[in-house]
Formats: sequence, C-alpha cells, structure tokens
Amino acid sequence: MIRLTESIHVNRPVEPVFRYTADFGRTQEWDPGVVSSKPASPGNPGVGSIYNLVLKFGPFRPEMRYEILAYIPFSKVILKGTADSFSAVDTICFSPTGTGTRIDYLAEIEFSGFLNRMDLFMSPVLKETGRNAITGLRHKLSNGICPAPGSRRFASGSGLIDYMADHMILPGMLAFGRPGYEIRRRFWTENRETLYGKRVVITGGTSGIGKAVALKLAKKRADLTIIARNRQKAAAVQKEIIEQTGNPHVDFLLADLGVMADIKRVAVRLLEKKKSIDILINNAGALFNDREETSEGLERTFATDLLGVFYLTERLKSRFSRCGSARIINVSSGGMYTQKIDVDDLQNKQLPYNGAKAYARAKRGVVILTRLWAEQLCDAGIAVHAMHPGWVDTPGIASALPGFHSRLNSILRTPEQGADTIVWLASAREAGLKTGLFWLDRQPRETHVFPNTVESETERQTLWQTLNRLTADT
Ligand SMILES: NC(=O)c1ccc[n+]([C@@H]2O[C@H](COP(=O)([O-])OP(=O)(O)OC[C@H]3O[C@@H](n4cnc5c(N)ncnc54)[C@H](OP(=O)(O)O)[C@@H]3O)[C@@H](O)[C@H]2O)c1
Repeated sequence: MIRLTESIHVNRPVEPVFRYTADFGRTQEWDPGVVSSKPASPGNPGVGSIYNLVLKFGPFRPEMRYEILAYIPFSKVILKGTADSFSAVDTICFSPTGTGTRIDYLAEIEFSGFLNRMDLFMSPVLKETGRNAITGLRHKLSNGICPAPGSRRFASGSGLIDYMADHMILPGMLAFGRPGYEIRRRFWTENRETLYGKRVVITGGTSGIGKAVALKLAKKRADLTIIARNRQKAAAVQKEIIEQTGNPHVDFLLADLGVMADIKRVAVRLLEKKKSIDILINNAGALFNDREETSEGLERTFATDLLGVFYLTERLKSRFSRCGSARIINVSSGGMYTQKIDVDDLQNKQLPYNGAKAYARAKRGVVILTRLWAEQLCDAGIAVHAMHPGWVDTPGIASALPGFHSRLNSILRTPEQGADTIVWLASAREAGLKTGLFWLDRQPRETHVFPNTVESETERQTLWQTLNRLTADT
C-alpha cells in the first residue's frame, strides 16, 4: 500500500471549506488529474453518496467510482475510490485555525494483481500527482492567489523527468503493460475475419511481435511475404509457420531495412508479381544504444526506423490494391510521446547521442508519415494506421533495454498480445473504415501528451521533402 499525506492551510472558514472539498462532484475544478467528476446519486453529499470520476493518465482516461464512507460535518470526510486495477481510501480532516482552515489529506492507495509489487516504482509518481491535487485545492480555495498546479516550468532536468513520470510511467504501467491489455480485451469481440487470398507483406517477421503477427496472419490464410535480413532465421520461421498453420503461401525476401539499396532491390522483386498488395506492415525496428552509420553513411536508427519505412512504402505505393480494402500499418511506439521530430537533426548528429531519444524521434516521424499518407491515399481507399504494441517481452527489448526488461518483466505483454492490434488493424472490417490514426489496444489514441512535441505543418512538409531527397538517388 502507498500512503500519501499532504497538509495545507487556506484563509477561509472551516464550514464552506468542508462543504466544497467533501463534494467530490467538484474535484474536476481543483485536481488537474481529473477530467470529469459527476455525482451518481441524488441529494446532498453524505454517507453513501457516489461520484463517477474520469482520471487523466497521459493519453488514457481510466474511470474511478468514489463513495463517501464517513461524513462528519466540518471535521472529517472519508471516501473510497475504486478503479480497474487500484483502489484508494481518502481521509480528509479539517480543523479551524485563527486565520482559516487546515486541511490534512491522507490517501491510501492499493494496487491489485502484480501491480501490487510495483509500489516502490509508483510511489514517487503518485506523490507528485497527490501534491498537484492538493496544490490545486489550495489554489481554488484561495481565490486563485496560490500558483495554479500544472504550471511548473522545466528549467531543471529533474523537473522534466518528474513531469514525464507523472504523464508516462504510471499510465505506462497501467496501460502499456499487460494489465492494460487484459482490461481492454474484456470489451473485444473475437476478430474472426479471414485474409483469404489477400497479399500481405510484413517486415521483421523473424522475431518478437512481427513473428507473432506473421503466424496469426498465416492462420487467417493470408498470402504472406516476410522481409527479413537473416536467411537462416527467415527460412526457419517460414518452415515453422507453414507447419503450424498448414498455410503453404508463406515466403520471404531478404533485405537489410536500414540500407536503401536493399529496399529498392526487394521492392523490385515485390513489384514483379502481378497481384496487387493488400496489406503492408512496417514492423521491423530497433533501438541502438550507440550511434553508428550504415554502409550508406546514414545514422542507423533513422535509417532503419524511419527512412526505410518511408522508402519501402513509397516504392510499393503504386501497387496497392485499389479495391477499397488495402491497408498500411506502421508499428510505432509509446516512446514517441516524449519527443518532437527534429527536422534539422534527423540523423542524430548532435552530441551526445541518446539511443532512446533517437528511437522515439524516428517513431514520432512514423506517426507523422502515417497522417501524410492517410491524406494522400484516402481517395484511393487505402487506410493507413500507426500503432503502439504496448510494452512487449521480445528479444529486441531484452537486448536494447536490459534494465527496463528485467525491472518490468512481470508486467510485459507477450508477443501475441503485442501483435493483437496489428492483426486487428490488418483484418477487421471496422479498421478499414478509418485512416490516419494512432492505435493501442484496438482504440485510437492521442498522438501527443506534451504540447511541446507537436510539429508544425512546415515541419511535416520538411520531413517529407528531406526523406524524399535522401532516397531520390538510390
Ligand atoms: N517490444 C516492445 O515493447 C515494443 C514497444 C514499442 C514498439 N515496438 C516496436 O515493435 C516492432 C517489433 O519489435 P520487437 O520488440 O518485436 O523487436 P525484435 O524482437 O527485435 O524484432 C524486430 C524484428 O525486426 C527485424 N529487424 C530489425 N532491424 C532490421 C533491419 N535493419 N533489417 C531487417 N529487419 C530488421 C528483426 O530481424 P532479426 O530477427 O534479424 O533481428 C526482427 O525480425 C519494432 O518496430 C519496435 O520498435 C516494440
């Protein structure tokens, strides 16, 4: 259990302070972590009153139901809040002082399931969230004299990290990890659509999420081509998929997707076939902790995670099926929430190089491309999606982020869970009716959590032109 305690003093008499604070239908007015709060029972606040709250966890909006357990006018109110994966008991005590009212706020938070084991990790994040709430209450009760919460500036690195923790780590634990998947899947119906006769191209189908996607697509009877860089791995995966699914229409082509000449060669092979492409899944990707350049002199993260995606898609664009069911699915990452695209330094030349940042920027770029392609291709009936698979236990994450992998191992998704939304976007009828969105767990999500990560139209166009220029002579 995590216990949070905060005390404030406000220059108002205890009675109106008590009445205002105990009415949880008004928490939205002072707690920046609450999107909406509404009474769900009739009458004035009292024991048994119920409130429905929608909370703000980064891009997610979990719901919480509060009930008043004790209501002792002008001195104490106790509420119990329940959400999907945690519960909280809030005890708020009020005491008159010579100049106003002192409020002592105690919140006792308990997580269910394996989140229970993450107390140490969650504690600082929740403390900051609680502090923001109580500062908001003080601000509200002091007629706006105190600084409003959420107006922190990020002069210091730790301020920024705290802010990111508030907005990313807790939502991440709840939504990007396995709990998020398990909660949301309760609302899904089984995705039974088949891909019989559909020509599907997937990159990075030899490991992790891509391999799980390839297997599921083959089960749906797709005519599948895997683009891979390692012949032995590709042949072994092809054999395994055919044996497991009985679908003989699984082949592979070899290319290093960070090398534009390889992409050009493989695209020519794909275009040789008369049959149009129904679905392209740009899944291959990697996080490189050291800055290196490819044989073509391109920085590796940028080349593999962004330029390669652009070039392969552009080369194949003319061959997409025009019968209204074609789809392009770009695998991005929630990491992109932390970064804005830097169109002046796409190749991460500015030192010091930071692998996670370079990766997040490339994945941000993929989301921008998704929107641009969606605009260009919508008249042709081609749906373009970007998605985040969640935090998934794969060889890629284990080798690139060993610390993250071992600390969060118990809440990482399986590759099959990470693959779910990609397969759904590829096959569900409903997913073909939308375009240009960013998905997690079969739901469109916001593309920005931090306002300073939003790119301008000029930056979007610069990105497009730069990628075009860098691939023009290949
Ligand atoms: N795992 C997560 O938590 C997570 C979270 C957010 C986003 N993602 C994204 O999900 C996608 C799949 O990642 P994963 O976690 O499944 O990683 P993974 O297990 O390392 O699989 C990555 C796949 O991409 C291939 N690949 C990488 N670089 C390549 C290149 N230059 N040329 C050709 N193929 C290349 C790999 O081939 P080899 O088998 O030859 O290595 C492998 O098949 C990536 O785009 C990743 O950024 C993952």
